[in-house]
Amino acid sequence: MVLPRTAFSFDLCMLPFLKTTAGGFYMLEGSQVLIVDFGSQLTQVIQRAIRELGVRSTIHKPDGVEHWLSESKPQCIIFSGGPASVYDAGALKPPGIVYEMGVPILGICYGMQVLAEHFGGRVESAGGNRDYGRAHVTFFREMVGGNDRSYEGETVFASHGDSVCELPVGFKKAAVFPHGGLAAMVDPVRRIWGVQYHPEAMHTVYGKQFLMRFLFETAKCKQDISQDEIYIYTQDHVKSLVEGRNVLVGYSGGVDSSVAVALVKQSAKSIVGVCIDTGGLREGELEEIKRNADSIGLSLKIVDTADVFLDALSGLEDAEEKRLAFANMYKQLFLREEQQRGADCVVKGSIGPDFIETKEAGALIKTHHNIDSYYIHPLRGLFKHEVREIGRRLGLPSKITERQPFPGPGLFIRILGPITRERMQLVRWADARVREVLRKNQLWDKISQTVVALFVVPTVGVKGDNRVYTNSIIVRAVSTPDFMTAEPYPVPLEVWREAESALTRHPDIVRMFIDVTSKPPATIEFQ
Ligand code: XMP
Repeated sequence: MVLPRTAFSFDLCMLPFLKTTAGGFYMLEGSQVLIVDFGSQLTQVIQRAIRELGVRSTIHKPDGVEHWLSESKPQCIIFSGGPASVYDAGALKPPGIVYEMGVPILGICYGMQVLAEHFGGRVESAGGNRDYGRAHVTFFREMVGGNDRSYEGETVFASHGDSVCELPVGFKKAAVFPHGGLAAMVDPVRRIWGVQYHPEAMHTVYGKQFLMRFLFETAKCKQDISQDEIYIYTQDHVKSLVEGRNVLVGYSGGVDSSVAVALVKQSAKSIVGVCIDTGGLREGELEEIKRNADSIGLSLKIVDTADVFLDALSGLEDAEEKRLAFANMYKQLFLREEQQRGADCVVKGSIGPDFIETKEAGALIKTHHNIDSYYIHPLRGLFKHEVREIGRRLGLPSKITERQPFPGPGLFIRILGPITRERMQLVRWADARVREVLRKNQLWDKISQTVVALFVVPTVGVKGDNRVYTNSIIVRAVSTPDFMTAEPYPVPLEVWREAESALTRHPDIVRMFIDVTSKPPATIEFQ
């Protein structure tokens, strides 16, 4: 088959569709695709994946669907995943009108289970056949047509505790997991698909092709948004937020805040950067932040509050306690800086995943330090690789656009236990040693993110013929363009051993563990 083009010529007459709306990227006028959001972490990833295929969509919670459909006629409807079980009291369901539209429907994960239940199938706990993370599925060729080998078997990302155990009437099995559980079902007459995995996740190998077939072949969608338009839309959106204002930007030296600065500069009356030195930065990081600010022409004020943060966070152990305490102090400092400088607003470079995890979608995974309605977040509709691309288009230096992220709460959330000053020093030292080894082996720039965390549960070792009973370091290197799903980066064992030998020279480190878990089920940071 000939797959539709993903790039197409930029047509200026499309721009009126792209005027900023209250819903930002989530609700674009004239969308051909309605995404019904049941609270999945990946709902915005569905939207982004189809946006990357050149198709605009709108996201609505089930209670907004009926109204939207009374004014719009989509080419197809996609049901997102969600954290509930379809049989739970109060589990979200779409209004009946979605089934009366006669348009193709794709149900993803929980969305597939909603379809199964609606059409008379049965869903139950998957028991031992749950899949969290990487899984393998085998498609039945006749269900997907043609001789396209891509559908014989594929690696997918799945994350489900329930599964469809009895097909609904009119549906056929389209794919199975190795344990026999149903991975995909199709009703070719009504043009309804259900998949028990996430084709929108970047690590689902043929996910993009699957979505292309659904959008362009089954639902006959047309491409109606391009990368150029996303760029122009983002510029327009930032302008609408900061035009003529005196802006204070929270600056961390990373790609998100640098892109925010470059965009804000285009239309704000004035701009000044503020970097809070929380005491949680890495070795040499402050100097790097200053250099990066210089290279994008940002006047930067460093606020040294290391002792204040260290005192306030010392003794905290629970991940959310640390994050909340950190976020509150951080906000107070910005309130003060904003007042002192007579700024009109504070802009942050927070992006899609930060919001998604901070309970914007479904469950709270972790409170990201910047997420508060007090700040303006012009990049909230974008994912990391999209922000990097905008940075490249803006001409930012590659040391910024390709930089590994470092989270705001920094080393505080890399102590897997109560925070102390000594532990902060130890984890900072370990982080620097691991970085040196990865850089020396030309791996640092290939890894999307490296996490070096201090594990404070003591274990026994022997050094110089003496017993030691002390800390360990856990290292984690991941590969991910969008930071929503991630795979372990295959750092060769010899390189890890070099790091281990550097680390265990320290009298307070006895072991090094390597974390090879993907996301999901594990997040990238430990806390
Ligand atoms: P997780 O650990 O949630 O991380 O898989 C996804 C990305 O977000 C970063 N991260 C943060 N960044 N403030 C930030 O600026 C935060 O509170 C925060 N928490 C996690 C994480 O390092 C990774 O790049």
